[in-house]
Amino acid sequence: MHRPDLAIAAHDGQALPTDTCPADSPLAVRGLTVSYGEKPAVFSVDATFPARAMSAIIGPNGAGKSTFLKAALGVVPRLSGEVRVFGTPIEKARDRIAYVPQRASVDWDFPATVLDVVQMGLYRRVGLLGRMSGRMRALALDCLGRVGMADFAHRQIGQLSGGQQQRVFLARALAQDADLYLLDEPFAGVDAATERAIIDVLKGLRDAGKSVVAVHHDLSTVRGYFDHAFLINVRRMAEGPVETAFTAETLHATYGGRLATTQIDEVMLSGGAA
Ligand SMILES: Nc1ncnc2c1ncn2[C@@H]1O[C@H](COP(=O)(O)OP(=O)(O)OP(=O)(O)O)[C@@H](O)[C@H]1O
Ligand SMILES: [Mg+2]
Repeated sequence: MHRPDLAIAAHDGQALPTDTCPADSPLAVRGLTVSYGEKPAVFSVDATFPARAMSAIIGPNGAGKSTFLKAALGVVPRLSGEVRVFGTPIEKARDRIAYVPQRASVDWDFPATVLDVVQMGLYRRVGLLGRMSGRMRALALDCLGRVGMADFAHRQIGQLSGGQQQRVFLARALAQDADLYLLDEPFAGVDAATERAIIDVLKGLRDAGKSVVAVHHDLSTVRGYFDHAFLINVRRMAEGPVETAFTAETLHATYGGRLATTQIDEVMLSGGAA
């Protein structure tokens, strides 16, 4: 779906000065470089995600997508570059962000019930809610209900299927009542019904004025799900409204020989149901 009011032009190939992070962007980075060893995982990346939109981060395995999100959150150190969340340094905006990590990176043996995990999302709001644990519990249950998981509240988190775990992490993010939702592959390994449930929740957040940025692998649904696309393969390959940034040309550039021309043609021909 096209939302021209949200469009932010791509500036590919141009290094943007670090003082140009727009204050109305929920997440903007300039010159971001992250390295775990000698070779950077993310190199000199500029990105400007629009507010009140669904944005996709797209790129092959090992392209630096998770690293980009973690560096934006400040959980991995950056070698250089600027990160602004709603125009302020990340340290001042943490309360406004909810993060759902890539499922493979979570320790599912951690002894906690589903309700515990969702209530963890509320800890920053405890000050506001005071000792009203009954109210916190009701809020957590409400968030579980929104992702269809209320019946599992007392189950150990490690005893859920992968798709159920993904829903619980989304419920925890909902409980945080953030302004910016960062999700790393929220649809990985989930069935069609769960994917539908998750996309409906995310679009609901967007329609309520929140900003959603998700790492996404399924190229056939990009146009149906997202407003804005950011393509990365260590460097930024393209960015802008899906209609202009997500093209056969930018996919070729991002995936190189890893995607055959016929596969790219299929993606371009598929409608990607909304
Ligand atoms: N903690 C780490 N220590 C060393 N290298 C790492 C670490 N995490 C990631 N890397 C490397 O950095 C590069 C980018 O990894 P990253 O996890 O960001 O990729 P990704 O785009 O999220 O991939 P995927 O689609 O497989 O999730 C890869 O080459 C990876 O091997
Ligand atoms: Mg990843």
